[in-house]
Amino acid sequence: MNTYILGIESSCDDTSAAVLKGTQVLSNIIANQKVHEKYGGVVPELASRAHQQNIIPVIDAALKEAKIHKNEVSAVAFTRGPGLLGSLLVGTSFAKSFALSLGIPMLEIDHMDAHILAHFITDETEKKIPEFPFLCLTVSGGHTQIVLIKDYFDMEIIGKTIDDAAGETFDKAAKIMSLPYPGGPMIDKLAKSGNPKAFSFAEPRIAALDYSFSGLKTSILYFLRDRLKEDNQFIEKHKADLCASIQHTIVEILMKKLVLASQQTGIKHIAIAGGVSANSGLRNAMEAAAVANQWQIYIPKLSYSTDNAAMIAIAGYYKYQKKQFASQRLTPYARQSSKK
Ligand code: KG4
Ligand code: ZN
Repeated sequence: MNTYILGIESSCDDTSAAVLKGTQVLSNIIANQKVHEKYGGVVPELASRAHQQNIIPVIDAALKEAKIHKNEVSAVAFTRGPGLLGSLLVGTSFAKSFALSLGIPMLEIDHMDAHILAHFITDETEKKIPEFPFLCLTVSGGHTQIVLIKDYFDMEIIGKTIDDAAGETFDKAAKIMSLPYPGGPMIDKLAKSGNPKAFSFAEPRIAALDYSFSGLKTSILYFLRDRLKEDNQFIEKHKADLCASIQHTIVEILMKKLVLASQQTGIKHIAIAGGVSANSGLRNAMEAAAVANQWQIYIPKLSYSTDNAAMIAIAGYYKYQKKQFASQRLTPYARQSSKK
């Protein structure tokens, strides 16, 4: 019998629903919330409200596109955390009601595990699936970590940021330059016509496999403040070079520790995941590192890099196989550290 998993993602500002048949994606619908743009960042209260408005139409669209009836769904997988509590509550409550009304199991999914497990989606025939153990640089708006994956749900974080995340650094740098939110994709776009060596910024000196990005953020802020004193058009005149240099610095910082992690563990199967894995500079750096270090690399499709429900559904598929069902009594968690 076919397994159909409905996945629901509502941890931040995207409401998404997906249907998987086994490990293959039948639909992956994402409603972005435009309401945050004018605030230059996600406003949690507005995000919860928008999820509430979007969730039924998004799920409806996912089932329609998958051409299946809700009664055919085997189980519902949802993001339990980490993320914004109000946003997570919308997806969690919906999943509970859906499962209860249809008498099907629920599968609770950790958002960061799901970013990594997105690599196991098999809708491209020629796509390579990672072999265990592998390393994954998981880089999103709230997290930056190097994870050692021994099995689907046996993961160990071997390095992480001690302050800001890489995505947050892209977004903050963009904000300093008055670029629209979210800044990561915009910096990526502008960087394409800039010189990555035009400007240099302070790189952190952090022990072991950990990261730090707060110093870089301050370095960008002070650099621009000083240049703007001399020329108030400085950012405007050098936008592409600034974006290319900032992106280059962030990618260099990320790659140095990833190379070190590979050397220390002896693992040469290396993946990237999370919103920042959509970055073209990081993707190019991975290709170059693969050649230099004889790595087998795994780069997610763009639609599975940033937040989406297909990744929640694939993680759900593996929990479903193990019959690891969730209780109707559980509540979401905002931080990864409170995951049980
Ligand atoms: O994984 P994600 O979609 O949401 C979270 O779980 O946080 O990641 C969002 C982050 C944002 O900081 C966004 O600016 C960044 O990913 N991002 C990018 C690119 N696309 C998204 N950063 C750099 N280059 C991109 N192309
Ligand atoms: Zn994410």
